Amino acid sequence: MDKLNLPGIKAKKIIEEDKQFVSSSYGRPHPIVIDRGKGSWVWDVDDNKFLDFSTGISVCNTGHCHPEVVRAIQEQAELLLHMSNSDFRYPSVVKLAKKLAEITPGDSNKRVFFGNSGAEAVEAAIKLVRWYTKRKRILAFYGAFHGRTYGAMSLTASKEGQRKGFGPLVPGITHIPYPYCYRCQFNQTYPKCNFACIRYIEDTLFKTTTPPSEVAALFAEPIQGEGGYIVPPPDYFQELKKLLDKYGILFVADEVQAGMGRTGKMFSIEYWEGIIPDVICIAKGLASGMPIGAIIANRDVMSWPEGTHASTFGGNPVSCEAALATIKLLEDELLENTCNMGNYLIEKLKKLSNDYDFIGDVRGRGLMIACEIIKDENTKEPNPVLRDEIINECCLRGLLVLGCGKSSIRFIPSLTVNKEEIDLAIEIVSDSLKTIKK
Ligand SMILES: Cc1ncc(COP(=O)(O)O)c(C=O)c1O
Repeated sequence: MDKLNLPGIKAKKIIEEDKQFVSSSYGRPHPIVIDRGKGSWVWDVDDNKFLDFSTGISVCNTGHCHPEVVRAIQEQAELLLHMSNSDFRYPSVVKLAKKLAEITPGDSNKRVFFGNSGAEAVEAAIKLVRWYTKRKRILAFYGAFHGRTYGAMSLTASKEGQRKGFGPLVPGITHIPYPYCYRCQFNQTYPKCNFACIRYIEDTLFKTTTPPSEVAALFAEPIQGEGGYIVPPPDYFQELKKLLDKYGILFVADEVQAGMGRTGKMFSIEYWEGIIPDVICIAKGLASGMPIGAIIANRDVMSWPEGTHASTFGGNPVSCEAALATIKLLEDELLENTCNMGNYLIEKLKKLSNDYDFIGDVRGRGLMIACEIIKDENTKEPNPVLRDEIINECCLRGLLVLGCGKSSIRFIPSLTVNKEEIDLAIEIVSDSLKTIKK
């Protein structure tokens, strides 16, 4: 694809005004202003066309403006926009809660709390596990991203800048090592490691600073998202869950990024057979772009009394109907397409990585894939500057991708993506790499 001249005239003007009037906290590296989208494609205000492999950070999983989702939104918008789930009942909230109870791992004896975002889901989960267990402490992982509100930010341990200057944070949270097997901090090699990172929790942490009888829950992304699309080894969560069960510690799966079909299964924890989280947090892909977040827990755990938690907008009827349409599309066709296209994309990226020694690990599940950009093959030292250059070059050639972790590029197309679109994306990445190598 020919290189675009970005930003265009209209975008330039909007970017100038944005800099004056919109919070400076957002990090937006792409020199474009998006106007509209359809399927895997978006157009900017200057009519430049882009293949979108970022999907609004794994939100527009059914593709931009899927007709079934748009229809559900339009029909509900004609009927009722808002009534507040906090004070009134309406059918779409109950329909969606029932559906989520059915499709999450475990039996359907569950209840659902609705918020508006991933962070709100995580906040609700923090409150619920503390309330239910009457314990104060929480475990979370290094590299984790759970959101930017105070509770969620306190669990987050991804990048220094996300916390710096905002303390004091919520007390009682202890971070533990994520199974970064390809760079194990215990210098052990899977599968001979006997899960040294899990033994550390029991043998060191629980015996020194963090009595297990005070720990309410462990929060985990089954596949770490912002931290770099890290997939823990097989058996990891089975082993971890044994430890948690031994001490009566709840397991909270943050599926905000990896859930709702992104990995080819409805929930990424399903890659670890037999694991039933006590609480599941979802948001992002749940309603294809409409704001909604939810936590799902069994009825025994979610038995907090009236008045303990609520949200004015959470479980908005339009978002609920969009979510129901989204789930139907996932069940009918998209989960299968995600598995097929995910295999196709990861193979293509692995093949590409053979030609460039600065592409390190290529990893992921389904259409949640990342490749790591490194300085050289021997040290495998991350190369964030080169990563950012590649992302920029791809954008100029019409492909939108995002970074994650220290130096990875994530590939998260719409779950409707097809082979031709993937071939084009690979061609653009390849052209970008060639230009940069020169
Ligand atoms: C795993 C995970 N949890 C929580 C969040 C926070 O979601 P939100 O930005 O909707 O608050 C994110 C956002 O990227 C996430 O990836």
